[in-house]
Amino acid sequence: MKITKICCIGAGYVGGPSCAVIAHKCPDVTVTVVDLSQERIDQWNSDNLPIFEPGLEEVVKSCRGKNLFFSTEIDKTIIEAELIIISVNTPTKTYGLGKGRAADLKYIESAARKIAEVSTSSKVVVEKSTVPVKAAESVNNILSANHKHGVRYQVLSNPEFLAEGTAISDLLFPDRVLIGGPQTPEGREAIDALSWVYQHWIPMEKIITMNTWSSELSKLAANAFLAQRISSINAMSAICEATGADVSEVSHAIGTDTRIGARFLQASIGFGGSCFQKDVLNLVYLSECLNLPEVAAYWQQVIEMNEYQKRRFANRIISALFNTVANKKIAIFGFAFKKDTADTRETPSLYICKYLMEEAALVSIYDPKVDHKQIVSDLTDPAVSDKETVDKLVTITTDPYEAAKGAHAIVICTEWDEFKTYNYQRIYDSMLKPAFIFDGRMILDHQSLLELGYHVETVGRRLVRNSVNRLQAMPK
Ligand code: NAI
Repeated sequence: MKITKICCIGAGYVGGPSCAVIAHKCPDVTVTVVDLSQERIDQWNSDNLPIFEPGLEEVVKSCRGKNLFFSTEIDKTIIEAELIIISVNTPTKTYGLGKGRAADLKYIESAARKIAEVSTSSKVVVEKSTVPVKAAESVNNILSANHKHGVRYQVLSNPEFLAEGTAISDLLFPDRVLIGGPQTPEGREAIDALSWVYQHWIPMEKIITMNTWSSELSKLAANAFLAQRISSINAMSAICEATGADVSEVSHAIGTDTRIGARFLQASIGFGGSCFQKDVLNLVYLSECLNLPEVAAYWQQVIEMNEYQKRRFANRIISALFNTVANKKIAIFGFAFKKDTADTRETPSLYICKYLMEEAALVSIYDPKVDHKQIVSDLTDPAVSDKETVDKLVTITTDPYEAAKGAHAIVICTEWDEFKTYNYQRIYDSMLKPAFIFDGRMILDHQSLLELGYHVETVGRRLVRNSVNRLQAMPK
């Protein structure tokens, strides 16, 4: 089977960058990314791409209009392609059965129905979206129940492991590519066809093939393990704060054990992003449906710990500011869920703002990449606050010095590199005293800040200034 044309359904954080890299690396293949949203497609075709990722613009510009296209002509693109990648969103359900936990598969289903409706030749259908185990079977059932004479489908699972903020390098140099598919001659042929695409730039030994259900579960398992490491180190950070141990030292000590490894051991105000919470909840729901309540409870605790960490950090801010933040200006540095992205889905910063607003604090938000409209839209979500409260309590600035001017405290919510480079003397001079910094990402030089006169609080470590201004962990 020769692949000359690929159609990707869904021009989001995954579909856009992953297909741009495929087109960039496979000049012999035409890749068209389609979406229902005309606005999104127009942005992909403009100089102002809809998402920010380091290196993305260069990759898109290198092949857009040559073998990479963005279009709303969904039917035509499906008809022409031999291989169709489904990369639509699979958010947590907000209604009905499984509300708040199960993955909402309505976008996957409608993409599958569209493929079945318009296809006039056989296709390899690749499920790239993150889905519950056995979703490929549902896609297959929809396709085969609606297939036309002579049209056959092979459904593969090819989950995406990119991380936002490093998407392009993750796609260019992945740890592995995972392809799951039916263990039949036709299934193997489809796996080989997709594998051929990746082999343009990825060594064979990094392309792992397996059965479909293992592949689907592996994606949920990978995200659950990563989220669990963050919740585990955050649980340790609470013990550190209560005892005088230092979570950075604990992380270093355990991370040097090769069985544990050093990555994903950074304590913080909690994980965010569109995937971790959604995928762990998905696993919890799946376990419950499989009548495995102990397994469900085990993974649910990863989410509980994350909630606890966000709430605990907000409580520390309130208690350090003499148990009241009402009418106090508090500068929030960072609104994106992590650095190098403008994505705010499930960002911990939003929860910190919410908790502070519930205490009537005046929050002044600065983020280098997230635009004003997005911040207002997140804050006015009914689960967070309302327009009247936001108008009264929130200001959004494009200047961090302005955000901190006249503030009682600065709260670092995102680990943007530029936060490390500011003139903290100038900021200190413009703040009310005592001036507080709550470093929720452990990125600043705490010793220097203490020397400037700041009161510094961070995660997993209690700081005091002694008589010679040396930083010390506080004894109990
Ligand atoms: P997204 O929300 O950014 O993009 C999805 C796009 O699909 C939207 O533009 C939407 O308009 C479009 N769409 C939905 N239904 C459609 C249909 N029937 N026809 C055409 N277009 C349709 O979502 P994102 O972040 O790209 O995620 C996609 C999938 O990849 C999800 O399952 C997610 O869990 C998974 N994933 C996401 C990662 C991330 O970092 N964002 C990383 C790895 C996996």
